[in-house]
Amino acid sequence: MCGLSYSCRVAPSGFAFLLLKELDVDCILETRKLTKEFKGFVAVDRVDLRVKRGSIHALIGPNGAGKTTCFNLLTKFLNPTSGSILFDGTDITQQAPAEIARLGVIRSFQISAVFPHLTVLENVRVALQRKLKTSFQFWKSERSLETLNARAMELLGAVDLEQFADLTAVELSYGRKRALEIATTLAMDPKLMLLDEPTQGMGLEDVDRIRQLIKKVAASRTVLMVEHNMSVVSSIADTITVLQRGATLAEGPYTEVSRNPAVIEAYMGSASAELKGAH
Ligand SMILES: Nc1ncnc2c1ncn2[C@@H]1O[C@H](COP(=O)(O)OP(=O)(O)OP(=O)(O)O)[C@@H](O)[C@H]1O
Ligand SMILES: [Mg+2]
Repeated sequence: MCGLSYSCRVAPSGFAFLLLKELDVDCILETRKLTKEFKGFVAVDRVDLRVKRGSIHALIGPNGAGKTTCFNLLTKFLNPTSGSILFDGTDITQQAPAEIARLGVIRSFQISAVFPHLTVLENVRVALQRKLKTSFQFWKSERSLETLNARAMELLGAVDLEQFADLTAVELSYGRKRALEIATTLAMDPKLMLLDEPTQGMGLEDVDRIRQLIKKVAASRTVLMVEHNMSVVSSIADTITVLQRGATLAEGPYTEVSRNPAVIEAYMGSASAELKGAH
């Protein structure tokens, strides 16, 4: 159960501060026995996920554990076989992907979703247009275009790409392309941002840049990320859920989860190995 409904019922009005405190730890996303079967193969197995509002929550697990399938269920790219998904108190299990995006659950897409031959600024503007669902009428106004440009520059500032605004996306380094992808996701005004392996394939410098960026954007929203890089997970995730063969193996802060013998065994095949070495 989420903390919110509980605290609403029990907190007397004089204890508003208590309620606020409870709200802080309230969960924005909850899954209940979320399950996905592919022709009898259970890829996601009765997962109860609770993502706290304002937190960075990492979903980790060995290859094939069901992490991406879980993401696909949350965004309704796939329909669950059973179980339910609650976002911000609303049951979204039956909702279409577009409706879920409108509510503020936005997944950062793969690099291919960045238009390589548009400039960095244009890429963000396209994302803003998508969000605004601008009509032809809107574009008739010169002022609207200026407002859009200003907002796009603001978003580029948020991901430290302002000085690259006029470059085409194809000219950016790999790490900066992912930063641009984060900016286009921010343009959709996410309440919950889903990132699937944001540092995959990056060199150390880019990994560090993206790590700091995620921390920065998470200051005013919730982030749920699949991440294999344990140094990223250990340094920024508030909570970690470990999946194994579709099911939750452990959940908690890194210090706790990384010492869990079952988790170490799942990763390394031996309870005496260290999680830090996980790929
Ligand atoms: N469309 C599908 N049809 C059949 N099986 C699938 C399908 N999608 C995923 N699976 C299977 O479900 C399991 C979980 O896959 P998933 O991609 O969710 O794992 P993952 O945790 O994201 O792995 P990785 O770390 O390699 O990205 C795998 O065994 C995969 O082969
Ligand atoms: Mg995956």
